[in-house]
Formats: sequence, C-alpha cells, structure tokens
Amino acid sequence: MKAVVAGAAGGIGQPLSLLLKACPLVDKLALYDVVNTPGVATDLSHISSIAQIEGFLPADDGMKKALTGADIVVIPAGIPRKPGMTRDDLFKINAGIVQGLIEGCAENCPDAFILVISNPVNSTVPIAAEVLKKAGKFNPKKLFGVTTLDVVRAETFVQSLTGEKDPSKTVIPVIGGHSGETIVPLFSQAKPAVKIPEDKLDDLTNRVQFGGDEVVKAKDGAGSATLSMAYAGYRFAEKVMKAAKGETGIVEPTFVYLPGVEGGDAIAKETGCEFFSVPVELGKDGAQKAINVLGSANEYEKKLLQACYEGLKGNISKGIEFVQNPP
Ligand code: NAI
Repeated sequence: MKAVVAGAAGGIGQPLSLLLKACPLVDKLALYDVVNTPGVATDLSHISSIAQIEGFLPADDGMKKALTGADIVVIPAGIPRKPGMTRDDLFKINAGIVQGLIEGCAENCPDAFILVISNPVNSTVPIAAEVLKKAGKFNPKKLFGVTTLDVVRAETFVQSLTGEKDPSKTVIPVIGGHSGETIVPLFSQAKPAVKIPEDKLDDLTNRVQFGGDEVVKAKDGAGSATLSMAYAGYRFAEKVMKAAKGETGIVEPTFVYLPGVEGGDAIAKETGCEFFSVPVELGKDGAQKAINVLGSANEYEKKLLQACYEGLKGNISKGIEFVQNPP
C-alpha cells in the first residue's frame, strides 16, 4: 500500500503524515508539498515503523515521483481560513491548487483512491471530478471528500448530553456538505439512540455546523483545525485502506459523486445534488454503496436538509464551472 500526502508540510499534512507513518497498513509513504518535505520526511523516517518514507518537492518531477504507484492520495494542500473567512473565501486559491494536484493524479496514479481535504470541499470535490472526467480517468467510487471531522465533532459534542465514556462509540450520520448550513447531523439516527432535550438541539446542531469557527477563533489568525483534522483524515484513510484490503462492513459518511455509486441515483434525485455526503459502505474498489438515510430524518432535520440543498447546489456548480469555463 503506497500512500501519498499532498500538502504534507502543512498544519494538517504533518500530523497526518505522522499517523500514516505509524500505520501498519502503509508500506510506502510519499510526502509532497511545495516546501519543506525533505525535512518532514527525514524527521519521520527515524520512526521505527514499516512504512518507507520519501519527501518530494516540485523540482525534478517531484510530483510525478511522489504520485507514481500510489494506491491512496490524501490532499490537504491549500490555504486555511483566518478569522472572518468562510470556506468559500478559500476558493480562489485552493481551486487551482486542487486542480493541479488532480491533474497529477490523473496522469500518474489514475487508479488511486483520492481523498480531498482541501476546502471548500463542497467545490473542490466537483473540481476534482471534472478534472478527472476531462482526462478520461474519473472513477466515482474512488473520489472522496473528507467530511469525517464533522462526524468526529458530532460524536464529541453529543457526549456532554449522553455522558458516554467513549464518544467514538456513538455512531451519528452527518450528511450533506462540509460548510456551515450544508452540514446536517442526524441525531435522531444515532446508534445507540441518544436523547437530546429539545432546548439543547439548536445549540448542538449549530456547534457541529460551525465547530470549525471555534478553532479558527481560538487560533486567532494562526489557521484552522489541523490536529483534529489530521485525526479525522487518518480515520477515514484507514477505513478506505482496510476496505481495500478486504475488510467488510465498513461504513462512513463521505462526500461522493452520487450517480457513480450504487444506490446514489435515488439520493441525487431526492436532494437535487449530484455530490453529497451520505454514509457509504466501503469495499475493495472504494465506495460500494451509498446508504439513503434521508427518509428517516425527523421534521427538524428535514428543515435543515432544505437549507443544505440550497447552499450545496451553488457550491457544486461553482466547482464544475471553474473547470468547464476557466476564469
Ligand atoms: P497549511 O497552510 O498549514 O498547509 C497547507 C500546505 O499545502 C502548505 O504546506 C503548503 O505549502 C501546501 N501547498 C500549497 N500549494 C500546494 C501545491 N500546489 N501542492 C502541494 N502542496 C501545496 O493549511 P492547513 O491548516 O493544513 O489546511 C489545509 C487545507 O485543509 C485548507 O484548505 C483547509 O481549509 C482545509 N481543511 C479541511 C478540513 C475538512 O474537514 N475537510 C478541516 C480543516 C481544514
């Protein structure tokens, strides 16, 4: 299993690379960034784990060397938010960065699982899909927007109400997109069931939707979530790798191109969104089945979903437009 981190020298990239270096599922790890990867790779190379690690910069065909032979590429490249910024404000810079990296994937590792972390995920994943389509290499089962941090936050924040000792034991589908109102936690479908007092539900939902802002504010200009994101990105990457190696029964919400995944067509019709995060069953070849959880949303969640659809459609079109009619 060869894993690549693109944007590996950044706030997310470094701890994510550390977790992948320590992961026994990884045989080879390539770190790619426009700066500092030789240092990060040398540092991590002293860890006594299986993965052989190398760092690459753009010079000397570095991107090609990093991506060639990759089985999984995780992309946290791009600028993060500062206080007062929305994820959409990042579009101008990150759209081009993601486009370039995906062109590299299409050319050098078209069969790899591609996990996009770079924001705005609601637009960067459609960009990635368009770039891959243009190159004739689009496999919707292998392109994922990483929305796991929203799931992790929902698990964590609900703990104050459930008192559960280990918050990760509560499974909560968080669906839709990955920004503000497009993030829809379905607490009514938590397993085991959770009882949320009515007067607490708005605050809890809002905290999941805007949890990223808490971190941006607390870091006060020094960036957005990096360590919790590295944990979440790793958690998702590990599930994709385990499924690729044959483990069954792995389900995790992720932002996918619905018409390309079994069961996704009906969800795309119902939501009016071609890209959407839903619980997805992972298999050897990637996204095996999209699970429709919309029907069991309660009235409160249905209202949230309406707001989600409206916001998400615009974000998706913006990404597609960026590739089809370049600015
Ligand atoms: P950062 O600025 O610390 O790191 C980004 C890294 O990307 C830098 O090392 C930079 O040199 C590198 N980079 C820039 N252009 C590149 C290119 N063309 N090729 C390769 N590397 C390149 O930013 P941070 O905090 O690590 O965040 C990265 C991205 O992740 C941001 O867009 C942020 O909004 C997003 N993010 C996504 C989350 C999610 O839940 N999906 C959560 C938190 C952040």
